Amino acid sequence: MILDDTPLFDPVMLSELDWSQNMVKFSPEISPLNPGDGLVMRPLCTADFNRGLFKVLAQLTKVGQVAPELFMKKFEHMKQTGDYYVIVVEDTHLGQVIATATLIIEHKFIHVCAKRGRIEEVVVSDECRGKQLGKL
Ligand SMILES: CC(C)(COP(=O)(O)OP(=O)(O)OC[C@H]1O[C@@H](n2cnc3c(N)ncnc32)[C@H](O)[C@@H]1OP(=O)(O)O)[C@@H](O)C(=O)NCCC(=O)NCCS
Repeated sequence: MILDDTPLFDPVMLSELDWSQNMVKFSPEISPLNPGDGLVMRPLCTADFNRGLFKVLAQLTKVGQVAPELFMKKFEHMKQTGDYYVIVVEDTHLGQVIATATLIIEHKFIHVCAKRGRIEEVVVSDECRGKQLGKL
C-alpha cells in the first residue's frame, strides 16, 4: 500500500477561487494561494498520513489508532463520493501538516433536493495558531 500525493479533489478548485469575493479581513493579507511564508494550502493526499495529519487532528478530538490501510480506504471512499473537500496547510520547510479543515456537501430532499456545505474539523497546530490560518 503506497501513500502518495494524489489529491482528494482537483487542486484547481483552490487555485481558481475568486478571492475578490472574499468579505473577510486579513491583516497581514493572506489568501489560499499565499497562506504565509513556506506554507501551502492544498487538498489532502494520502502521503499526509506521514506528515503529521493525525497529530494535528488529535488537537481537536480523539482520533484513536488508525492504520495506513484504514486511512487509505476512508480516503478512497471520500474521493469517490466527490462530496468531501479536506484541505490542509503544509509547512514546506518542515514537511508537516500544520492545519486542516473539511467542507462536506450534505444532500437533502427538502428545498428542491438542495445541497448544503458544512465546514467541519477546523484545527490549527498549537504552535501555529494566531496567524489567521483558522480564519483562512
Ligand atoms: C479555533 C482555531 C482553529 C483557530 O485557529 P487560529 O489559526 O489560531 O485562529 P486565527 O488566527 O485564524 O483567528 C482568526 C479569528 O478567530 C478568532 N478565534 C481564534 N480562535 C477562536 C475560538 N476558539 N473561538 C472563537 N474565535 C476564535 C481570533 O480571535 C481571530 O479573530 P479576528 O479575526 O477578529 O482577529 C484553533 O484555535 C484550533 O485549532 N483550536 C482547536 C480546535 C478547535 O477548537 N477547532 C474548532 C472547532 S471544529
